[in-house]
Amino acid sequence: MDTKLVFADAYDFSTPMLALFAVDLATGRNAEPHPLLLTSSSDLADASARALGPGEFKAGLGETALIHATDGMRSTGLLAERLLVVGLGKAKDLSLDRLRKGAGTAVRAAKARVMRELAIAFPEAVEQVGELIEEFSPKLTARALVEGAELAEPDWDTYRSDRKDIYLNELTLIHKVTGEKTKLAAQEGFAEGLIVAAAQNFTRALVNEPGNVLTPTELGARAWAMCQQAGLACEVHSTEKIRELKMEALWAVAKGSAEPPALIVITYEPAGGAPADAPVLGLVGKGITFDTGGISIKPADGMEKMKYDMAGAAAVIGAMQAIARLKPAVKVVAVVCSAENMPDGRAVKPGDVVTAMSGTTIEIVNTDAEGRLVLADGLHYAKTLGATHLIDAATLTGACVVALGNLNAGLFSNDEAACAKFVDALAVSGENFWRLPCTDDYRERIASEIADIMNTGKNRYGGAINAAIFLKEFAGDTPWVHLDIAGCSWNEEKKPWLPYGPSGIAVRSIVEWVRSYSA
Ligand code: BES
Ligand code: MN
Ligand code: ZN
Repeated sequence: MDTKLVFADAYDFSTPMLALFAVDLATGRNAEPHPLLLTSSSDLADASARALGPGEFKAGLGETALIHATDGMRSTGLLAERLLVVGLGKAKDLSLDRLRKGAGTAVRAAKARVMRELAIAFPEAVEQVGELIEEFSPKLTARALVEGAELAEPDWDTYRSDRKDIYLNELTLIHKVTGEKTKLAAQEGFAEGLIVAAAQNFTRALVNEPGNVLTPTELGARAWAMCQQAGLACEVHSTEKIRELKMEALWAVAKGSAEPPALIVITYEPAGGAPADAPVLGLVGKGITFDTGGISIKPADGMEKMKYDMAGAAAVIGAMQAIARLKPAVKVVAVVCSAENMPDGRAVKPGDVVTAMSGTTIEIVNTDAEGRLVLADGLHYAKTLGATHLIDAATLTGACVVALGNLNAGLFSNDEAACAKFVDALAVSGENFWRLPCTDDYRERIASEIADIMNTGKNRYGGAINAAIFLKEFAGDTPWVHLDIAGCSWNEEKKPWLPYGPSGIAVRSIVEWVRSYSA
């Protein structure tokens, strides 16, 4: 999609479809819906008045109404052939994230009508909700709109023969703005949004690939190719180097598969280098390209979903692409541990004991708790590469899905400052993470009679925390943030603003967290 930002009056913009936002002013139990168009143009308001009337449109979030321009409208100077009114929900609930969803709704509604071009008008402060809109920074408004639009465009139908190839080719965001400062801010937000959304879409494309296509080796090749384009240093290692580094926890998972594992290391250096005492951020991703559970094999029902068990790795790789383009003044090292978890004559077995790269011995009680094993070596390795602060992303536990559902991903940390930076990043990214504890009193739950620790808890209770406390052992004293994205990596239900399929969760938040350390 060729996406542009133009500063103009939407009324005078020639397009097959012009999207306008509306909110519902109604409050209270028996109030009729009261849609209000977020435009200062009385011409546009007049043109869409009929569609906003009773029985047509309530301006609910994700709701749309289509108006064909009549000769009458055209004679007054309207250049759009159609108006698409997009609901954002109740006025009092208006937020940047709703603008993101609104822009996405416009794109998906246009695609559904086989449009190749779409224009979206920025929401404008009108009397009743003026203050609300003015509260949003011009930069973040532009960013939210372009992100929402770009994330809504792809349909993950690569492997369908009846694929219609319906792309939206051209998108124009129209901003009627006076004032150079606002213009510059909007341009900046627009440029950032394009970069971050492209990175997130790159992540989603990786997550969408089936396990037979995206093996650990292929994940390494795709990361490497991205790094060549983005100007990042990238190394992809396999079995030999993994054994040489004594990453026996990662190897324990990998050795049951005919597909060799991959250890992917991506380095971003800020221009001119970073001072010796500056922070180095370590991004660590779980890259299980397929999780059968291993010898502790999973039930058949729903197992096909386990191709997305590399969503954490994909998020980290995508974040690196955005980081290379946004150029924060901080060094970043990404470590992706990728393997396929398979049952086999050579596979690791329940009861086996392995020594992780850190020297910690692990009793492997359940081979399906493989994510924490590969991350144990990834976190330790990132520290040996100089990381002073760690963040990991992983589709780690079903227990996290049980605890938080699909609307919030799990957030864990051993450090208030690093965690606070992540929470601040959420205000920009619009992603939802909910913090869960991993205080030291949980440590006894992974104590083993046989080895230093075991890879499951004593029982199923608090399973997401058991996994986090296991990882915390390997973060040690290094400030660390852990993201359990098991419940949020795949959109099972399509939304008016998003298709079915991979979500690309965590990319935007990781990128903002990294930028918060920029000198
Ligand atoms: N990859 C799974 C977790 C998962 C579940 C991801 C649902 C996405 C959706 C992970 O490797 C796993 O199998 N975890 C086990 C751990 C248990 C054996 C301690 C789980 O959650 O059941
Ligand atoms: Mn598993
Ligand atoms: Zn897994």
